[in-house]
Amino acid sequence: MKLRRSVVVLAVGLTALLAAQTGAAGATVPPPSHSAKPPGATVVPPDSLRALASKVGLRIGTAVNTDVLATNATYRQITAAQFSTVTPENVMKWQVVEPTKGTYDWSAADQLVNFAKTNGQLVRGHTLVWHSQLPTWLTAGNYTSAQLRYLLRKHITDEVTHFRGHIWQWDVVNEAFNDDGTMRDTIWLRAMGPGYIADAFRWAHQADPKALLFYNDYNIEGLGAKSDAVYALAKQLRAEGVPINGIGAQGHLDTKYGFPNQMRQNLQRFADLGLKVALTEVDVRTTLPVTTPEQLAQNADYIQMLEACLLVRACISYTVWGFGDAFSWVPSVFPGEGSADIYDENLQPKASYFALQQTLMLASGAPHR
Ligand code: XIL
Repeated sequence: MKLRRSVVVLAVGLTALLAAQTGAAGATVPPPSHSAKPPGATVVPPDSLRALASKVGLRIGTAVNTDVLATNATYRQITAAQFSTVTPENVMKWQVVEPTKGTYDWSAADQLVNFAKTNGQLVRGHTLVWHSQLPTWLTAGNYTSAQLRYLLRKHITDEVTHFRGHIWQWDVVNEAFNDDGTMRDTIWLRAMGPGYIADAFRWAHQADPKALLFYNDYNIEGLGAKSDAVYALAKQLRAEGVPINGIGAQGHLDTKYGFPNQMRQNLQRFADLGLKVALTEVDVRTTLPVTTPEQLAQNADYIQMLEACLLVRACISYTVWGFGDAFSWVPSVFPGEGSADIYDENLQPKASYFALQQTLMLASGAPHR
């Protein structure tokens, strides 16, 4: 995996170099007989987030809005050039893939998987078991517990099977805890009890034994009641031999709450259980209009989350929840807040982009003097 990653980035870099040399030498130099860059792939600049992160084996990802990807060339170019993993923001969710009972629609997700393949990117599958964005036929169906268990098993098996071999990390269970560490009251908990989590991981593993299987949640970035609960769950699942491979901390921060408590130590304790960790949905929202101190706090939050990940060897990816303020989920869910992303409304990189870029440069070593 590590070797392949370096080869792809190197290959893309070489192609850029060759192109530059061809230009410098004049038009008479014939193009190379075969291009190392996959057909259709965007060139990856050496100072891109993905190229810099690849030097320390880290993947930098983004959630992708597939509607925008299909229509906006600048968005497409940035997605391919800056990121080495993609997460479908919505199109692998149950509501989208099975809008009518028994009728699957994988089309939008398939297109994203193909885009990723073209551009040498890995895919984070998101998400198999959640309480939100479920199809109405399911939530309004008055199913018995046994029927819900059957339907969940079928959903996991069918979706993971459809994408088998194409998903690097699956968010198997999303947001199963409350902030106080108790389990969230969902149709899954009601139907199956707390054991639904272990079952979901076992079903996903059966369908794709090679995918890395993650538990994913928000407000578990630092030490606290909620991350303690997830830690206890992870420890128990590991002890029982349940096929869980990683913990995803979403990383949706807000400048008004300050930075999570001892994030590096928290990520490390999960790693010490033998798990991978990942930052899966990073963004830093703030009250609008943005003031200078809030913007500085946003930059600091982005950097400190990246630093915590960089310092934990088991932290294998850092994914932003979209990169452009124009397409962010924040304004619609948190009224009066926004400016949460690393590119502005016009897809121009913001200070937080350059802050991440500089931190990644430092990660592979400051020049000796
Ligand atoms: C959000 C999407 O960004 C929105 O477009 C959608 O309307 C609602 O869901 N935690 C998650 C993500 O795990 O799936 C959510 O994504 C954001 C919070």
